[in-house]
Amino acid sequence: MKPSLEHCFKLLLLLALGGVTMHVPDADVLSSLGALRLYGHFSFHDATAMARDFGNRCSLLPATVLHPGSVSDIAATVRHVFSLGERSPLTIAARGHGHSLMGQSQAAGGIVVRMESLRGDRLQVHDGSMSPFVDAPGGELWINVLHETLKYGLAPKSWTDYLHLTVGGTLSNAGVSGQAFRHGPQVSNVNQLEIVTGRGDVVTCSPEENSDLFYAALGGLGQFGIITRARIALEPAPKMVRWIRVLYSDFASFTEDQEMLIMAKNTFDYIEGFVIINRTGILNNWRTSFKPQDPVQASRFQSDGRVLYCLELTKNFNSNDAGTMEQEVTALLSKLRYIRSTLFHTDVTYLEFLDRVHTSEVKLRAQGLWEVPHPWLNLLIPRSSIHRFAKEVFGKILKDSNNGPILLYPVNKSKWDNRTSVVIPDEEIFYLVGFLSSAPSLSGHGSVAHAMNLNNQIVEFCEEADIGMKQYLAPYTTQQQWKAHFGARWETFERRKHTYDPLAILAPGQRIFPKASLPLSL
Ligand SMILES: Cc1cc2nc3c(=O)[nH]c(=O)nc-3n(C[C@H](O)[C@H](O)[C@H](O)COP(=O)(O)OP(=O)(O)OC[C@H]3O[C@@H](n4cnc5c(N)ncnc54)[C@H](O)[C@@H]3O)c2cc1C
Ligand SMILES: *[C@@H]1O[C@H](CO)[C@@H](O)[C@H](O)[C@H]1NC(C)=O
Ligand SMILES: *[C@@H]1O[C@H](CO)[C@@H](O)[C@H](O)[C@H]1NC(C)=O
Ligand SMILES: *[C@@H]1O[C@H](CO)[C@@H](O)[C@H](O)[C@H]1NC(C)=O
Repeated sequence: MKPSLEHCFKLLLLLALGGVTMHVPDADVLSSLGALRLYGHFSFHDATAMARDFGNRCSLLPATVLHPGSVSDIAATVRHVFSLGERSPLTIAARGHGHSLMGQSQAAGGIVVRMESLRGDRLQVHDGSMSPFVDAPGGELWINVLHETLKYGLAPKSWTDYLHLTVGGTLSNAGVSGQAFRHGPQVSNVNQLEIVTGRGDVVTCSPEENSDLFYAALGGLGQFGIITRARIALEPAPKMVRWIRVLYSDFASFTEDQEMLIMAKNTFDYIEGFVIINRTGILNNWRTSFKPQDPVQASRFQSDGRVLYCLELTKNFNSNDAGTMEQEVTALLSKLRYIRSTLFHTDVTYLEFLDRVHTSEVKLRAQGLWEVPHPWLNLLIPRSSIHRFAKEVFGKILKDSNNGPILLYPVNKSKWDNRTSVVIPDEEIFYLVGFLSSAPSLSGHGSVAHAMNLNNQIVEFCEEADIGMKQYLAPYTTQQQWKAHFGARWETFERRKHTYDPLAILAPGQRIFPKASLPLSL
């Protein structure tokens, strides 16, 4: 896996060299876009802002930005580009909140559709039936979906760790967090989608209607259409959660407990975990708002620079059932094998818990540490290899975890619908392992080069040891890599592309299918 950074820079260079490449649309094409009758508008002034993402390592300038005023604006734009056929090099990228890592929501010399322009008014909760749901615009942030549904005492069931991401953006990947063991990823909790295909058709789809497009788009990396609306299943929202963290020094006990908990009938409502490498000193202040169960014991606990594993759990409750919650939590914790002095907990509202990463964002922004490069690596590792993986990665490759959190928790494959486009390992239980590094400095330990070197070592180990790993939010740059990623599912993926976006107009930043276009010199 050679850095995709190089690929990104090469493209930039091509663009900088000007009209000689087929990536640059001509002025006639752009003015023909200007002639479309729209509720919204095209703009050029925010093109640089749309050439950035959370990864901060890839920047490709679009030719123009569409601020849609309606779904029909998106359809008209796609239809227009489709009608230009292979004469045009134009591509179209839907941009959610731009929280991609490697240019996936960018379109070099093409059109970026700012999905956030199309939100708000169409957010509608339907609470009348036994199975309540919300209709949300594709560009809506999950935090806003939560605020709106809470007004009805309801909330979506499956989340991501961070809610300042869009509905269309996470559904194009999978959407995984500590509820996925029970409810499956976010793509398993959608009843219906409205999609603008790569031909410019507006299609409503669900498991019953146009089901092939419905499943294609879920985890579809934006390849088959632009999700303009999603119907998301809701459940009654709890008022409060007990949020618990306990530590382990033994990886086997940690993962056995995690697996026992995700299998148990009566269990926690959220189950995650993370790895702490080489943090010296007393650990009871590693998150100040957590209270230790036994303050005296906890204050004596020293990590001594060991590798520790933190199990993170929540149990939902309402003020009238706090007593029952206490009993259930005590009973569940008594079955676990964590280091007894390291039980920390706190009670917070459901909203505070779900929006927890935003609290960190605010702190990091204040220190200028949010808008830095993020060379993240997200892996899905089959259960049968997780011990081999941990021994090599946490025992040898990584020397510290100071550049960002390392998530590690299991999920059950039975909750992942195999008709979607999401690619997962072929095993009943697999782990999500996220190395969420920040690279605030230009050289040394905090640099992109340092993090990428470690990422590459981890990926190379997985390949050499034949771990059966799949990447999540994969940054592949060649079709050959994507074919290997999809394996037996490639044929389906390719067939669906041919059906719904035959000219490969959509989401070029995923670098899966090149835009069908004739070189200008012909
Ligand atoms: C701090 C942070 C925490 C995160 N935590 C989690 C987590 O816990 N679990 C998890 O699963 N992921 C997590 N993610 C990853 C997240 O799912 C991706 O960043 C994803 O890309 C969503 O971001 P976005 O909405 O900004 O979409 P973008 O980055 O804007 O878009 C992502 C891709 O989808 C396409 N796209 C965007 N909108 C649409 C649409 N409406 N229709 C079709 N295609 C579209 C884009 O063209 C692009 O290819 C996290 C990311 C960050 C930055
Ligand atoms: C995974 O979930 C399925 C269905 O709920 C269940 O039958 C199976 O036992 C689970 N597997 C494990 C290993 O927990
Ligand atoms: C642990 O971190 C300290 C500094 O925080 C460093 O000096 C030491 O070398 C690290 N240990 C290992 C095994 O990398
Ligand atoms: C998907 O899962 C179903 C049942 O869980 C199974 O019958 C089917 O063969 C699977 N399909 C693929 C393509 O793996």
